[in-house]
Amino acid sequence: MKNATSYHVSDTGHYGEFGGAYIPEMLYANVEEIRTRYLDIIAEPSFQEEFNSLLKDYVGRPSPLYLAKTLSQKHGAHIYLKREDLNHTGAHKINNTIGQILLAKRLGKKRIIAETGAGQHGVATATVCALMNLECIVYMGAVDIVRQAPNVARMQMLGAKVVPAESGSKTLKDATNEAIRDWINNAETTHYIIGSAIGPHPYPDIVTRFQAVVSEEIKWQLEGKTGKDHPDYVVACVGGGSNAAGAFYHFLHDERVKLILAEAAGKGIDSGHSAATSILGTKGIIHGCMTLLMQTADGQIVEPYSLSAGLDYPGIGPMHAHLIKSGRATVHAATDDEAMMAVIELSRSEGIIPALETAHALAILGRIKFKSDDHIVVNLSGRGDKDLNTYLQYIEDHNISL
Ligand SMILES: Cc1ncc(COP(=O)(O)O)c(C=O)c1O
Repeated sequence: MKNATSYHVSDTGHYGEFGGAYIPEMLYANVEEIRTRYLDIIAEPSFQEEFNSLLKDYVGRPSPLYLAKTLSQKHGAHIYLKREDLNHTGAHKINNTIGQILLAKRLGKKRIIAETGAGQHGVATATVCALMNLECIVYMGAVDIVRQAPNVARMQMLGAKVVPAESGSKTLKDATNEAIRDWINNAETTHYIIGSAIGPHPYPDIVTRFQAVVSEEIKWQLEGKTGKDHPDYVVACVGGGSNAAGAFYHFLHDERVKLILAEAAGKGIDSGHSAATSILGTKGIIHGCMTLLMQTADGQIVEPYSLSAGLDYPGIGPMHAHLIKSGRATVHAATDDEAMMAVIELSRSEGIIPALETAHALAILGRIKFKSDDHIVVNLSGRGDKDLNTYLQYIEDHNISL
C-alpha cells in the first residue's frame, strides 16, 4: 500500500495545494473557535456515544449494501449499491447534520443556518433542529425552491424558515452566498451547518469525518458478504463532495481501490450549460476555500447548470480537487439526459428510484471497463421522491413510453 501522498487535511487546513480558510474578518472568531475545538469535541466519549446512537436509532444505520443483480449482469461485474437513500430523510446528508448539530450544541449556539440545493441538506438540517429544539433558517435558490418543492414543504413542516436566494442563477451558489451573509451578521449566536465537503477549513474535514461512516460500513459489509475487505471501485456523484468524501474516506490511502467521481455535464460539457466543475474549472477561491471552480479569466464565477439541483454548483470540495489533480481519483461527467436514462433504468431494473444527483453516478458506469471479478460500490446517495415532478415532466417532454 502506497502512502506517500496524504489525502487527509494538513495541520494548516490544506489538501495539497487546495483548502485553507479564506474568510471575511467578521467570521474569523467563529471559524477559529470551530477550528480549535472540533477535534476535541468530536473525540469526547459522550459525543461519540450520542452521535452513534442517533445514527443507529434515528437515521437507521447501518444502511444496507445491496448487490444489484440486473445492473451487475449488464456491466459484467459485481455491483453493490450503498443504500444511503434508505436513511431517515432520504439521503446521506443526515449523517453530517446529526454530527454538526451536536457540535453546535457543545459550542453553545442557539440558532442554525444552512444552504440547500436539492433540499436534502435543508430537510436534514430542519430535522435535526426540530430534534434539538433549535431555530433553523435555510437559504435556497428561488429556482431550486420551484424544482424541489416537496422538500420545501418538508422543511416548513419541520418548523424551519426557508429564505429564497434571488441573486445570480438562483441556485446553490447563491443560497450559499446568502447563508454566509447571514452568518457574518449573526456570528455570535449562529452555527452555519455547511452541507457539503466545501467551505473554509475545518468544514471540509468536519463534513468528511461525519460522512466517513459510509466507507467504514462498506468495508465490513463487503467483507461479510464476499470475504474481501475492499472494493475495486467506489463510485459517487459529486456536487460539493460530501457523499463522495464519505464513501472514499477509509479507502483514500488504499491504492487497490479506484476512486471514481461523477459530475454533472448538464446539457454537455462544452454547451455553456454545464456543472462539470473539475473538467471546466481552474484553481481559485469560492465560499472560503481554494479549490477548482468554474470562472472567467478575470475570476468571475461562471453560472453552473444541471437539471439536478444538488450538482448545480460551480465548485468542488478541496479534498476532491486534490484527489483529481494528484491522479488519485478519476472524474467522468454525465449529461442530464444520461442521468435521466439511468433513473429510468434503475427504477425498472432494480425497483429503486434514485435521486437525480445519484443517477449521475449510475450513468457513468458504462464508461469503465470492469473485469468479471471486480467488486464495485456505487454510493446511492439519495432517493428520488423529491425529483418525481422533474422525472414525470422529462418523460412527457421527451415522449418516452414507459
Ligand atoms: C441525494 C444527493 N446526492 C448528492 C448530492 C450532492 O452533494 P454532495 O456532493 O455534497 O454529496 C446532493 C445534494 O443536494 C443530494 O441531495
